[in-house]
Amino acid sequence: MQVELFQKSSFEIEGKHTTHSGGKGEYLHDWYSYLEGFSSSFVNQILKTYAPNAEIVLEPFAGVGTTPVNSSILGCTSYYCEINPVLRKVTAIKNKILNLSDEDKVNFLININELSENLSKNILGIEASEELRAKYYDCFDKSVFFSQDTFEKVLKFRALIDQILSKDILLAEALEVAVISCLVKCSLLKRSGDVRFKTAKELSKGVPELISSVIKQLKLMMEDCKNCPQAIAPMYLLANNSKETLEIKSVQADIVITSPPYLNGTNYFRNTKLELWFIRELLNNKSLRTFRDQVVTSGINDVTKDKGKEILPLISDLYIELLEKAYDSRIAKMMSAYFYEMKIVLEGLMHHTKSDGVICIDIGDSIYANVYIPTHKILIKIAQELGFSLYEEILLRKRHSNGGAELGQFLLVFKKEDSK
Ligand SMILES: C[S@@+](CC[C@H](N)C(=O)[O-])C[C@H]1O[C@@H](n2cnc3c(N)ncnc32)[C@H](O)[C@@H]1O
Repeated sequence: MQVELFQKSSFEIEGKHTTHSGGKGEYLHDWYSYLEGFSSSFVNQILKTYAPNAEIVLEPFAGVGTTPVNSSILGCTSYYCEINPVLRKVTAIKNKILNLSDEDKVNFLININELSENLSKNILGIEASEELRAKYYDCFDKSVFFSQDTFEKVLKFRALIDQILSKDILLAEALEVAVISCLVKCSLLKRSGDVRFKTAKELSKGVPELISSVIKQLKLMMEDCKNCPQAIAPMYLLANNSKETLEIKSVQADIVITSPPYLNGTNYFRNTKLELWFIRELLNNKSLRTFRDQVVTSGINDVTKDKGKEILPLISDLYIELLEKAYDSRIAKMMSAYFYEMKIVLEGLMHHTKSDGVICIDIGDSIYANVYIPTHKILIKIAQELGFSLYEEILLRKRHSNGGAELGQFLLVFKKEDSK
């Protein structure tokens, strides 16, 4: 299939659709509120503009699955990578819901309705999961992230999900996703950029009660199930880690639609530590470190002594400047590791895209210690060195650094040149 030629600068979208809030209310979007996610309109608009005839879509940083979910609804087979097991779980259940037959959907809706109607009564009669309680202390030691009452309810939810799992896997998975989407909200923590403790003022407004929050979430999921269409094409997990796709047979994607981590210090794994613990992916206080070693280095805590040693020649001046000016030498290392690893990801995209294929990357720039890092420009150079040609560079919206410096969010559109 030949991807149609597209018009330059024909991509238009309201800035809000490049963020999670832009998709609020769209079906399946609010199953897990992920700050870094974009809206389905963003994916749909990119497909319409740059690859209206696409059959295969690839997303190497899937988050909660916005790209694969919407591509599959539109009839494109999609492949995705996502390193965080919590987000893979959210994407996996969306995939299952999209593939239910009419009959299975009716049954699922009956079961989930019954579950939510009886939840308040049933949860109180359940014994808390002592295994998850012990794991909490292994992972977080004496840190207190929940009120005692909420903590007991969280442990009861774990036990209830385990009980349902033996009878109805889909229902158990739906309840698990409903609970993880409420964990931070109902805890003493708050997601505000990174996760932090709620302030006294925030606590004084009251913390939402867990059982009623989960019931509300189940009802939202039910409504979405009723409204969402069936997927027309399948979606597949290509690999967990997008740095490890070169050895896999090429999927020959027509288009890549993605938003990689920004070089802005977001601590992707620490932000989901409660959810990771709840789904039993955190074993002890070292587990977060193991995950951080696998992500594309983008936060200061991702840097270890082995990271950041390979400095791509095109950033060597910037590296020296950062070493001189930044308050912490890990910032220079974080930057060098980021571009080195993004090069590996781009090599994977080159391998998995067909000749003439399109690569759309949503990315923002950064500033550290008054040193401006033009992430988008550096990625353009790396991609060009690998054989992609830049087709468009669009400013999607203006952003600001914590210190008030003006930054941007850009859409980079590349084409993989026909190798013939
Ligand atoms: C900006 S978010 C993408 C959000 C996504 N567009 C959505 O709509 O949910 C970047 C994602 O990349 C993931 N990530 C970071 N390093 C990765 C790696 N090496 N392989 C796969 N995913 C990775 C993070 O966990 C995060 O979910």
